Formats: sequence, structure tokens, C-alpha cells
Amino acid sequence: MPAFTASAPGKIILFGEHAVVYRRPAIAVPVEQVAAKAIVNAELRGAPGSVKLLAPDIGMEAQLSELPASNPIAAAVLNAAGVLGISRIPACTVKVTSTIPVAGGLGSGAAVSVAILRAFSAYLGHPLSDEQVCQLAYEVEKIHHGTPSGIDNTVITYARPVYFVKDRPIELLHPRQPFTLVIGDTGIQSPTVKAVSDVRKAWQQHQDEYEALFDSTGAIVDSARTAIESGMTELLGPLMDANHGLLRKMGVSCPELDTLVQVARNAGALGAKLSGGGRGGNMIALVTAKNAERVAAALQRAGAVRIIITQVRG
Ligand code: MEV
Repeated sequence: MPAFTASAPGKIILFGEHAVVYRRPAIAVPVEQVAAKAIVNAELRGAPGSVKLLAPDIGMEAQLSELPASNPIAAAVLNAAGVLGISRIPACTVKVTSTIPVAGGLGSGAAVSVAILRAFSAYLGHPLSDEQVCQLAYEVEKIHHGTPSGIDNTVITYARPVYFVKDRPIELLHPRQPFTLVIGDTGIQSPTVKAVSDVRKAWQQHQDEYEALFDSTGAIVDSARTAIESGMTELLGPLMDANHGLLRKMGVSCPELDTLVQVARNAGALGAKLSGGGRGGNMIALVTAKNAERVAAALQRAGAVRIIITQVRG
């Protein structure tokens, strides 16, 4: 029997993280240079229900039956079997690998879920639709993040730029011109759940202030959408700078992110900001084809542990 394989890209939030949890719009794009991959192999001699889960990157090797349903890898497998109404899973091994850094704001959790849901449902003989994959991956995101907006599972499922508003139908974005981003990793692991819950506490204490920050973020996102769709990508730089300023006010930046953002600007980036949950993880800088390498080298010198240069296209 052949192996059933699926992979899913990483992602970055271009504009609007955190405010998106509070129903403001956000823009996210896939990052194809990193990916999660799931491979399902039938174990022809295994007893029905015997499902072995392997995730060598995190040292995991376990039987599905041994894991709590709150384990995100187990949850993705159980969600796929559950929605398909399959209670006796034919024996198999599910192996997951990923090149997406964990807790770095690049969507590693959602990508692992999407890859498992696709490969495992194909193994069960009923490949899930994109809509089902997105919804079930969102259920797993709730285990990772508590109160996720759903943007990560959406952009990763569709692997296209998206303009996203929580609980509204997904809108794909069509950039008129491709543009280039440099992604710099602080190397600091920062679980999104912590940053999201800290913002919630701050919002509860200073509701007017945070609502105003979220509104300003939403306005930036809408201007960015217009710039992207009309090909005026040079306008995105100042919008990124402004979005980073608002994220700092929300309390989700950190000295390492601020340094990399400033270094990128000094090296000629058109704008820069943190991306994702913040407090560590990755930042992004808008560059021209000419200065991409210069910005990348400056970020590396300033301590970025990993650099990705990526193009955003329709
Ligand atoms: C995480 O990629 C983006 C956040 O806005 C959280 C979310 O939307 O669920 C920080």
C-alpha cells in the first residue's frame, strides 16, 4: 500500500496580529520555504485501532490510545477520524516532520494540523475538503492558543495571501505586483498563547485604550489591502512601521524584535515589524530586489538566527 503524504507551508502575518483576535481585519501570507509534512503508512499486520504517532523533531513516539485528546497531534488524527465517522481506524503509523521553527510566529502548529488532516483523511479513503481541513485545524488551534482568531489555519490551509476577519468568509488577496520580504528570527521561542492571553488581560484592564489600538490597526490593514491590490507596494513600508508601533503599545514586542526591526530599517528596508504573537519569534522587513541581501546580512550580523527571503504573489 502506498504512503499517504501531505505538506503545509508556514505563514507570516503581514498586518493586524492580535487586533484580529478582536475581530479587526488582518492580512497573512504563506511562506513556502518552510513546511510541515505528514506521512501515513498502513501497518498491514497491526490490529485495527493501533495508530502509532511519530514526531522525531520533538522526540515523540506514542500510540494514539496513550495520548490525551488535548495532544495537538492526537487531536488532528482524532478530528479527521471523527468527522468521517470512522471509529475503528485501520492500523497505521503517522509520521510528522517540520522545518517550521516552533513558537516562532510562523504557524508551525497549524501547519502540522493541516498536513495531518490531509494525509490521514486520504489514508482513510475520504480526503477532506479545504473547508473541513480549515475548520478542524481551527479546533486544534484552540488547544494551542486558547482563543485563536483562526487566521493561521486559514492562510495555511489555502496557501494563498488572505484578508481575514474572524467568523467572516475567507477572502483571498490578489497582489497586483509581487513584493519581497526578509524574515528574521530572534531565536527566542515565544508561545502565542501567552502573548494572546497577556493582551487579553491588558484589554480587560484598559478597554478603551486597547480598542483604540485595535481600531488603528484595522485602519492600517485596510490601507495595506488597497496598496497590495493596486500594486502600490512601496506604501506598505510606512504601514508596517506604524503597525509595529501599535504592537509595541500593546506590549507584545521585546528588545530583540525592536533591534532587528531598527537594523532592517537602517539597512534600507522600506518598513519592518514583528510578525505573529511577538515577544520573540520572527520579524519581517519589506525590501526591494536590490537591497534584500543587504538587509538579510545586517539582520544576521545583529543576531538573527535564521533568515528567509520570500516573495509574496497572488
Ligand atoms: C498568531 O499568528 C496571530 C495572533 O493574532 C493570534 C491569532 O490571531 O490567533 C497573535
